[in-house]
Amino acid sequence: MFDLPTLHALYKETAPHTEALAPPPWALAGEGLWGSVFDLGDGTMLKVVRRHGGLGSGEALHHREASALAFLGGLATDYVRVPRLIASGAFTNSYIGSAPPLAGWLRIERIAGKRLTTDGVLTMNARERDLLGERIGAAVADFGVEASARATAAESKLADTVTRSLMLSRAQLSTAELHRAADAISLGWENLRASGPLVFVHGDLNPGNLIDAGPREPLGFVDFAEAGWSLAEAEFRHFEPLGALRDSTFRGVTARRGRGPDMRAYYLAAAADALMTIAIQGNAGHPRDAMRRMGLLRHCLAEAGLD
Ligand SMILES: Nc1ncnc2c1ncn2[C@@H]1O[C@H](COP(=O)(O)OP(=O)(O)O)[C@@H](O)[C@H]1O
Ligand SMILES: [Mg+2]
Repeated sequence: MFDLPTLHALYKETAPHTEALAPPPWALAGEGLWGSVFDLGDGTMLKVVRRHGGLGSGEALHHREASALAFLGGLATDYVRVPRLIASGAFTNSYIGSAPPLAGWLRIERIAGKRLTTDGVLTMNARERDLLGERIGAAVADFGVEASARATAAESKLADTVTRSLMLSRAQLSTAELHRAADAISLGWENLRASGPLVFVHGDLNPGNLIDAGPREPLGFVDFAEAGWSLAEAEFRHFEPLGALRDSTFRGVTARRGRGPDMRAYYLAAAADALMTIAIQGNAGHPRDAMRRMGLLRHCLAEAGLD
């Protein structure tokens, strides 16, 4: 969260590059590892990305999101929609008020609806959760088709989020067991990638990046910092801990696409994600949390045939 003088400094940096930007105060809509998102109250959002956050660099995340949204913005089917990108820019000034070092900003169309949360989907009643999962599955199927066509037309070269997360985590891991796991997942994943087909994926789908405006409306996808060409199963890399929602999502995608996910590819992507969580969080939290993270990794490795 930024103080008011910092918001004014941000306003001074961004306002010359985007029309009719209202001056602060701005309402904070979300705050994550990599930055803050403000609801400007005029149907648009301002996302500010930090240079430092988790693994990797904020400059790369900002670049990826701005370049993906440039051709994905406005994508809409009966099941999915993507907000338009209005303007974006990189920060060259390293001292903006008292903000931490900032990489860039994006002004994005606001999607109406409520943001989902992991706790929310885990505690939903079964009927609601099944319906939501089926909608997410259909949204993923539609997104794969539409986004791949747009990315091809735009000649996008944005790379695979799973490959990248494996490289970033490997450098951070400290035990031989985890290095072996990273290498085995990489080998398995690259082998599957070689036979394709590759699809343009959102790459970071989790409840917090979905905006739900009700059962008859398309789901909004936001947060494109991990978008790129990957295997279709990469879209579900965060879904293994979501329990029953994962199953209904798979039903939805199978119904819409006519074929279900390849479970080996899925578990490799989920294992890469579990490894990334270990690389970022290490032994943080209660000892049980660390055990749970290792448990998820071992489970995904076993399901992928790598134990
Ligand atoms: N275009 C948008 N329309 C509506 N809400 C949005 C939009 N973009 C972001 N948000 C809200 O802000 C939150 C954080 O944005 P996000 O792009 O996911 O950033 P982060 O990198 O912090 O996860 C989202 O979970 C969502 O609630
Ligand atoms: Mg997000």
